[in-house]
Amino acid sequence: MTKIEKIVLSYSGGLDTSIILKWLQETYGCEVVAFTADLGQGEELEPARTKAEMSGVKDIRIVDLREEFVRDFVFPMLRANALYEGQYLLGSSIARPLIAKHLVGIAREVGADAVAHGATGKGNDQVRFELAVNALDPSLKVIAPWRQWNIRSRMQLLEYAEKHHIPVPSDKRGEAPFSIDANLLHTSTEGKILENPAEVAPDHVYQRTVDPPDAPDTPEIITIGFERGDPVSVNGKAMTPAALLTELNGLGGRHGIGRLDLVENRFIGMKSRGIYETPGGTILLAAHRGIESITLDRAAAHLKDEIMPRYAELIYNGFWFAPEREMLQALIDQSQAFVSGDVTLRLYKGSASVISRTSPCSLYSADLVTFEESAIAYDHHDAEGFIRLNGLRLRNWAARNGR
Ligand code: ARG
Repeated sequence: MTKIEKIVLSYSGGLDTSIILKWLQETYGCEVVAFTADLGQGEELEPARTKAEMSGVKDIRIVDLREEFVRDFVFPMLRANALYEGQYLLGSSIARPLIAKHLVGIAREVGADAVAHGATGKGNDQVRFELAVNALDPSLKVIAPWRQWNIRSRMQLLEYAEKHHIPVPSDKRGEAPFSIDANLLHTSTEGKILENPAEVAPDHVYQRTVDPPDAPDTPEIITIGFERGDPVSVNGKAMTPAALLTELNGLGGRHGIGRLDLVENRFIGMKSRGIYETPGGTILLAAHRGIESITLDRAAAHLKDEIMPRYAELIYNGFWFAPEREMLQALIDQSQAFVSGDVTLRLYKGSASVISRTSPCSLYSADLVTFEESAIAYDHHDAEGFIRLNGLRLRNWAARNGR
């Protein structure tokens, strides 16, 4: 085995990463630095500090990354209206490059030669962490205990914990829990009964949204302000990126918005079924499309829509820090220069519908489109010629076909 001097571990304080921490100390006999990112997962993070201290960790970093997460990762992605396979808002995918960035930053600061993560050997997250680390610091080694140790089952994991006096919470003793990943953008739940896509997800799987039929019977009207493609206010109140997303998560959750039951294609090769809850993100996607509808030129909007699946796939597959993602980002960002204004939506029993939009940079021309007499010079005869020329090849083709 290669000699490692110092490791920075992405540490949640949960059972799995607590075991990983111990395993790293035993296996490599070196110092392990614990890094816990606050991404708005809605969990107490101080217990992680206590647990790491108890395991003899001297250097523990709990860092609040909520603003950076939303400002530099979620919002740039939202400018693209990114959806993987037409539906998934990429809540887990977009968090990994940020965590990797800080793992690398801390590794450099403390002079570590390796970073470690608790992602399993079957998922996308290991790929995302490691591709990001490769792109940011090719000299760093990556340790993925789930691929290296010979713990192969939940039972063996608990045995290892027992043997090393790692406290196992009583609710973790029975059957394996769902695999949950949460942050300010979404909660994702996989595993257990969900592994059978024929089974309807039980109600207790959902954590931050009410079932749409149980949502309030009165709709709620909200207005979101945008500046250059990014949301900046709710109901006229300016907010920081993380505060804004938190606010919309509350509103969306209450109205049952943003639930998704999806079978997706993992980069690694298998299909997997998951339940996603993305209340604020779902509202923002509808709102952003609403403001773009009046501020983007047609060809610009259509070009964005063409590259979107490619851009989303890059994020899903872990290529956030790759040159082609940055190139597409530059294109997307340039398109947003005039994407400013207000969008009003109605939140009602699981849906977020745009009901009005205004912008100081609107391209919408009532004068152009009106059915009434219009002041703007529009010659109806131009439309006749336009259709005649566009129809030329169709008439030619139909005559040949003998229609
Ligand atoms: N399938 C999702 C993705 O690849 C979520 C993965 C993490 N979620 C989890 N419940 N472990 O982005």
